[in-house]
Amino acid sequence: MKSFHEKVAAITGAGSGIGRQLAYQLVTAGAEVALSDVDEVGLAQTAARCRELGARRVSESRVDVADRNAVYAWADRVVHDHERVNLIFNNAGVALGSTLEGVSYEDFEWIMSINFWGVVYGTKAFLPHLRAAGEGHVINISSIFGIIAVAGNGTYNATKFAVRGFTEALRQELEISGAPVSATSVHPGGIKTNIAKAARFDQSVADLVGDVDASRARFERMFITEAETAAKVILGAVRRNARRVLVGPDARVIDALQRLLPSAYQRLTISMAKRQARIKKPG
Ligand SMILES: NC(=O)c1ccc[n+]([C@@H]2O[C@H](COP(=O)([O-])OP(=O)(O)OC[C@H]3O[C@@H](n4cnc5c(N)ncnc54)[C@H](O)[C@@H]3O)[C@@H](O)[C@H]2O)c1
Repeated sequence: MKSFHEKVAAITGAGSGIGRQLAYQLVTAGAEVALSDVDEVGLAQTAARCRELGARRVSESRVDVADRNAVYAWADRVVHDHERVNLIFNNAGVALGSTLEGVSYEDFEWIMSINFWGVVYGTKAFLPHLRAAGEGHVINISSIFGIIAVAGNGTYNATKFAVRGFTEALRQELEISGAPVSATSVHPGGIKTNIAKAARFDQSVADLVGDVDASRARFERMFITEAETAAKVILGAVRRNARRVLVGPDARVIDALQRLLPSAYQRLTISMAKRQARIKKPG
């Protein structure tokens, strides 16, 4: 898709961070936007700014991406309100700090239901509409943690590796069938958003790498790229129909490290975690 002018773009998790910036830039590029989030306050703020930016048409819906029926109903509503839909950005996501041994099934299912099943529902609910529009693109937000795994992030890793596999297979199926729809897997490094503040952390992380607050703060210090820049990179990747896009210099370095040391990179992440644990734990 070379241009977003007069296209209709649906975005999940549009009330904050990367989703919000995608909305602003799509509006500026002449697209209509269909916004959704569970956070109605953030959603209303994004929608209001889109209107100030001169959006052709904006619709907003409270949609929990973990609710399959709600996602399908929203897809139908978007087509009803905007007459068509060309792009779905499956962007809504959450983070969870825990060990795999210590994590509760409740928390594990919570993150899977949003980060993985939310992407699946968004893709499958919108695909028939994207095909019907004659030109479409599915953009699924994975992470650099969908390329390497890191202790304390195992559930997040599981969701984001799954999104990558799902999206890469989808892209191949769309090409084989000659569909007028494409797909891109997005792998951001640390982006300055609300994700760490909204994350769940459980006590099992403290046993691994020191206390939970320090762990959250450390997580946030790794965020070096502005959400605005991330959105720009993602939209550039859609324009050139990239299969995969890395977002931020940290993502590019980590991806190179994984290629160089496909499994031995784990020795580095282990020694970093041990060093942090020594710093954080007295004695
Ligand atoms: N920020 C980073 O460093 C980073 C790095 C790699 C990948 N990502 C991914 O980018 C995506 C966007 O995250 P962000 O960094 O902008 O975070 P963010 O917290 O600023 O925004 C995420 C949005 O998703 C919404 N959301 C959460 N649960 C939802 C649900 N069940 N249904 C609908 N909406 C829901 C939140 O309300 C929020 O508005 C996520 O998939 C995240 O995993 C972020």
